[in-house]
Amino acid sequence: GAVPIGIEDLEIATGHHVLDLSALAETRGVDPAKYSRGLGQDEMSLPAADEDVVTMGAAAASALLERTGIEGIRTLLFATESGIDHSKSAAVIAHGLLGLPPHVRSVELKQACYAGMAAVQSAIGIVARRPQEKVLVIASDVARYQLASPGEPTQGAGAVAMVISADPALLEIEPISGVYSADIDDFWRPNDSSTAVVDGRLSMGAYQKALMGAWEDLQAQGGPSADQIDAFVYHQPFTKMARKAHRHLSQKLGAELDETPLDQAEVYNRRLGNTYTASLWNGLASLLDHAGDLAGKRVALFSYGSGSAGEMLTGIVRDQGDAAGRRARRLAMLDAREPLAVDAYEELHRSAELSSASDQETPQVGGSGFRFAGIQGRARRYERPA
Ligand code: CAA
Repeated sequence: GAVPIGIEDLEIATGHHVLDLSALAETRGVDPAKYSRGLGQDEMSLPAADEDVVTMGAAAASALLERTGIEGIRTLLFATESGIDHSKSAAVIAHGLLGLPPHVRSVELKQACYAGMAAVQSAIGIVARRPQEKVLVIASDVARYQLASPGEPTQGAGAVAMVISADPALLEIEPISGVYSADIDDFWRPNDSSTAVVDGRLSMGAYQKALMGAWEDLQAQGGPSADQIDAFVYHQPFTKMARKAHRHLSQKLGAELDETPLDQAEVYNRRLGNTYTASLWNGLASLLDHAGDLAGKRVALFSYGSGSAGEMLTGIVRDQGDAAGRRARRLAMLDAREPLAVDAYEELHRSAELSSASDQETPQVGGSGFRFAGIQGRARRYERPA
């Protein structure tokens, strides 16, 4: 039969700062319950001035590679929708920061929040062709909307790194998936804008349409039916969206789909905020760390990227390893973020994009050891841990 392929191991990272959404609600004159219950968000991560998608991605990947080693890795796929250059990929910079050998192809993928799924599927193709090869997938994003806009409480920052291989110790990914694409202007970021442009209502409808499109395709391709799926994990632009999507699917199927896995998959996302390409995989990490014994169970993962692309794949959980240890470590990482007052957050938000026009250095703030050190000769300069 075909070689089993999937996620060998996974690690997460985030930005140095955190903003408490109840403080933001107070400043904006909004009932805090709108954010906590209406959107399902409690906090949001913010990168420090010397952090970006590259440093967060490198932090997640370096912790991961300490466990898996780099043997067999010949491809690095970097998924992001908050890229730091129109031409050079974040993958090449991460490749250098991680000290990977030169014989690793490195490239960036983009289709809004969907690119993480695209990277995983591309990785599976590479491993299927030559099973002794492994692929390092990094999904990393900073979600930025305009200050005081409806999207503001759904900002966030974080990264997930995964090794995709023919030794899928964590999750064996099944070959059939359901896909759906439709050209729509629900959310995008023009080349001259550091914040996303979004039609909130349209985007929520487009998400649900892509979910049903992907689901119907999964069924048409001969994928598992709803009663053969033990847990659904969704892209979480805000965690309430996953619940809306799940209820929409339940209603369309005329079935009562269990919501318990949604509680288990939202623990990190409620505190990270939207992590775009990384959001679904942060949800998977949260599920695996909080669900108890899932070995042998089937999970469905739905990715949505505005613009738009949707895909649902399924996988069988192999072994969750030391879930309690990982949970404790990840919660400690979230607790260790440095809180910002709302005025300091607003100042950071306004100064987030450095112009490449003149040389400048960033202040040393971030704690991972991977730093965006500033601009020199119009190029971004980075440092890695000594
Ligand atoms: N207590 C409890 N709940 C309250 C409340 C209160 N005091 N006040 C309001 N709420 C509820 C509302 O009823 C609503 O819930 P329902 O939709 O279930 O009714 C929820 O809080 C949000 O309230 P509004 O609809 O009034 O919120 P809004 O219009 O200010 O903004 C948003 C919501 C449009 C999603 C906005 O946050 C936004 O634009 N976000 C960015 C876009 C986004 O994330 N889209 C998701 C799909 S696209 C995607 O998935 C890709 C991606 O990553 C961007």
